[in-house]
Amino acid sequence: MIKKYQTIINETKGFMSPEEGQGLYDFAQKASQRGPGLEIGSYCGKSTLFLGAGFQKNNEILFTIDHHRGSEEQQPGEEYFDPDLFDDRINKIDTLRFLRTTLENASLEDTVIPIVSRSEVVAKSWRTPLTLLFIDGSHTFDSAETDYLCWTPQLIENGYLLIHDIFPDPSQGGQAPFHIYQKALNSGLFQEVAMIQTLGILKRR
Ligand SMILES: C[S@@+](CC[C@H](N)C(=O)[O-])C[C@H]1O[C@@H](n2cnc3c(N)ncnc32)[C@H](O)[C@@H]1O
Repeated sequence: MIKKYQTIINETKGFMSPEEGQGLYDFAQKASQRGPGLEIGSYCGKSTLFLGAGFQKNNEILFTIDHHRGSEEQQPGEEYFDPDLFDDRINKIDTLRFLRTTLENASLEDTVIPIVSRSEVVAKSWRTPLTLLFIDGSHTFDSAETDYLCWTPQLIENGYLLIHDIFPDPSQGGQAPFHIYQKALNSGLFQEVAMIQTLGILKRR
C-alpha cells in the first residue's frame, strides 16, 4: 500500500509515522468490509490518505471531520505552528485546501467525504453506524473527552476505535488521548487489540 502512495505521503504534511500509517490502512481495510468509517482531525490529509486507501479497497466511504482552523498547539507562536498553513488574507490557519489536494492526488475523492465543522456539532445529528472511528482532533482534555463521548456510541459491535498520540509516560507527550484510551478500557465496552507506536487500537465488544 505504502509504495503506491509513497510520493504523496512524502509530500503531505502530518503527524503519522509509516508504521502507524500502515496500521491505519490495515484496520481500515478490515473495518470497511462492514460499512463506513469516520476520522476526527483530517488536517492536511496524511492520516486520511492511509485510512481512505483502506476504505477504497472495499468501495466504502470514509467521513473526515475538521474545522480546518488548526488545534490549539498549531496556532501562531505555539509549538506546532506551520506558517505554510496560515492564510494571511483571513489571518487564520486553513488546512482545507491541503486536504483537497491530497485527496485529489491520491484519487480518493470517490471514497473520502470531508466535513468542515467542529466534531461535536456534526455529532448532534449523526445517525450512521460506524465500523471504525479514528480520534485525532483537539488534544485538550475537554475536547478529547467530548469526541469520545459524542462518537463512540456510533460504533457497531466489533467496530474499531483508533486513538492517536497515546503516551503512557507524561514526560513523552500530552495526556488527553491516553486519558480517553483508558476511559474506553475502564468502561468495559472495549478490548485492546494493538498498540503501534503511539496509535492505540481497540475493538468494541
Ligand atoms: C493533530 S491534527 C490531525 C493530524 C492528522 N490526523 C494527521 O495525522 O495527519 C488535529 C486536527 O484536528 C482539528 N480539530 C481540532 N479540534 C477540532 C474539533 N473540535 N472539531 C474538528 N476538528 C478539530 C484541527 O483543526 C487539526 O487539523
